[in-house]
Amino acid sequence: MRAMQIPSDHPLLLNIVDDLAACGWSQQNVFLSEALTLELAAECRKRAAEGELAPAAVGRGPAQEIREGIRGDHIQWLEPGQAQACDSYLELMDSLREALNRGLFLGLEDFECHFAMYPPGAFYKRHVDRFRDDDRRMVSAVVYLNEEWLPEQGGQLRMYLNDRGQYDVVPVGGRLVVFLSGEVPHEVMPATRERLSLTGWFRRRGNEPF
Ligand code: OGA
Ligand code: MN
Repeated sequence: MRAMQIPSDHPLLLNIVDDLAACGWSQQNVFLSEALTLELAAECRKRAAEGELAPAAVGRGPAQEIREGIRGDHIQWLEPGQAQACDSYLELMDSLREALNRGLFLGLEDFECHFAMYPPGAFYKRHVDRFRDDDRRMVSAVVYLNEEWLPEQGGQLRMYLNDRGQYDVVPVGGRLVVFLSGEVPHEVMPATRERLSLTGWFRRRGNEPF
């Protein structure tokens, strides 16, 4: 339907790079078109209805466990070639990856992301996205897929920022939040309705031995 060839010097992407350089985070209120947002939301709901989303685990490798007292979202990782809307999103994020590499010399090699569905009342307690034993995650990127979200419905992303303290983002459809994975503690507040997002991480190469 749509080949999303976004140049990596698009002003929107350069804005994000500048924000990250200046303060370690960025919020873009109109990042995805309404059409792509709706398609991604439909794809996420379809996967949820087909039972493809699974309770998210905390931790990494063999230490992974499901702990709803820490996080209650259900997720599915994206793979290329599954759906046009997802591929469009992955292409867009690849342009952002290039922009970040050019502007910040981060050496980002890939982008991993998953759909996340928080049932009403679910939350994700305060955490940092970088694992203690794996520091490949450099930049976190969350895009919201919710139609007509009202602030009183909750579900804010609450960030603890160096430059402005506690800061809440309402998860409005099409909105993107980007931040340095190792430096911004954050949490997801419970909501009164289902909350959909695509959450991902730009990663650099690991320093495993040869
Ligand atoms: C995460 C996370 C934030 C959000 O999945 O690690 O913090 O707003 N998500 O969904
Ligand atoms: Mn997180």
